Amino acid sequence: MQAAAIKMIFILVAFFTSATRATETVQFPQDFQWCVATAGHQIEGDNIHSDWWAWEQLPGKIANGDRSGKASFHRERMEEDVQIMRNLGVKTYRFSVEWSRIEPTEGDFNDEAIAYYLKELRLLKENNIRPMVTLHHFVQPQWFTASGGWKRQDSPNLFLRYVKKVEEHFGAEVDYWVTFNEPMVLLFAGYGNGVFPPGETSWDFWEQKLNLLRAHAQAYRYMHEKARQRGQKIKIGMAHHLRPLKSTGFITEKFLPFVDYLLNWNIPVALKTGEVVGLKRIEILGVPLFPLKKKAVLDEIKDTQDFVGINYYTREAIHLNFKPPFIHRLPLEGLRASDLNWGLDPEGFYEVLKLAHQQFPEIPFYITENGISDSTDELRPEYILTHLRQLHKAMTELPHKIEGYCYWSLMDNFEWAEGFWPRFGLFEVEYENGGKRIVRPSALLIEKIFRTHALPDEI
Ligand code: BGC
Repeated sequence: MQAAAIKMIFILVAFFTSATRATETVQFPQDFQWCVATAGHQIEGDNIHSDWWAWEQLPGKIANGDRSGKASFHRERMEEDVQIMRNLGVKTYRFSVEWSRIEPTEGDFNDEAIAYYLKELRLLKENNIRPMVTLHHFVQPQWFTASGGWKRQDSPNLFLRYVKKVEEHFGAEVDYWVTFNEPMVLLFAGYGNGVFPPGETSWDFWEQKLNLLRAHAQAYRYMHEKARQRGQKIKIGMAHHLRPLKSTGFITEKFLPFVDYLLNWNIPVALKTGEVVGLKRIEILGVPLFPLKKKAVLDEIKDTQDFVGINYYTREAIHLNFKPPFIHRLPLEGLRASDLNWGLDPEGFYEVLKLAHQQFPEIPFYITENGISDSTDELRPEYILTHLRQLHKAMTELPHKIEGYCYWSLMDNFEWAEGFWPRFGLFEVEYENGGKRIVRPSALLIEKIFRTHALPDEI
């Protein structure tokens, strides 16, 4: 009798738990923009006039001596890739146009490159997929980098000349623009720890930062003016790499709030208030001390973001020492991790969204990247689900207007200094086999989510 009663209680508990779960289905708004993201140099192939192409030829710069080469063969397989996106139920495709293809030598624009991107935009339109176009995703023409890049005082104008060309040809077809992808990563890796071209190692990339922000602001104003004349509503922002930071030791702990501000928040805040901060190098008799803070106010960059693009991957542990660039990244202990040894930390995503919400309560967000390197696809489904739960929590509990979510990436691609070995794709790319696409189980999960706007209870 007692056993039967206990069994009954179990049945009832199981029934009510599943009933509660069913009613608690995590549902996203019907107009939510489900998106996948890529970047030109990482997928297109043969980007021969770019600074990355030149960089890849130098010994020791890319893991395993890889070179981007044909990358993910996207130029050969563009139609197929758009078809794949359509089948996945993708609403928005975030990709980048390559400055070095459009302007391979200074002041000369390439009609073929323009025709290629026009074809891509046409295919997307025919398949009801909105483009979100990044103007600069880590890569620039070799002539630009070799002649001083963002140190050049005229760099904002050089960027504007390229933007004018892009606007002239693609402007009417695109409503969402990202000027720069992860500007702090670009500056830090190019001029701080030197793992991106031009490969400089220093504490101070102040001029470069100011010029890049000026370039953004000029592009923002120019493109808005053109869209206004056309009667078109467009949105322009940047995609920022945002991650909660963990300190390693007493000194790092003391500086952590400032480092967090410098790495994560200063650029998006600067696009709101105009205030830019940087590091001032201090030396006594040639011995470096910890740098001090410096700041400037650029009125022209105030209020130049219509959305805050957020790229979230993981939390990061950092360590400070005197070696340029002063801030160093360490592996995060104690979490399950991706192939690149980045810890799985979905709560960190919510933390970032909450902090961003506190600083930009009135500006919509767009999740411009979120993904994992996982060649076996064992962790990816869980990664996607747990991160989307945190995103949903942010949309309902904060609450904050978040317009869309881009999974990084549609397919495996050239992962910068790491070369080809990390696999971020929903689709595996067989590089030795002309870039053949092989579907991964997580692509099927994504399709289910994108089509139902809901998260399944279990994987
Ligand atoms: C970049 C991508 C990169 C991804 C994974 C992001 O920081 O925007 O280009 O592939 O992270 O590392």
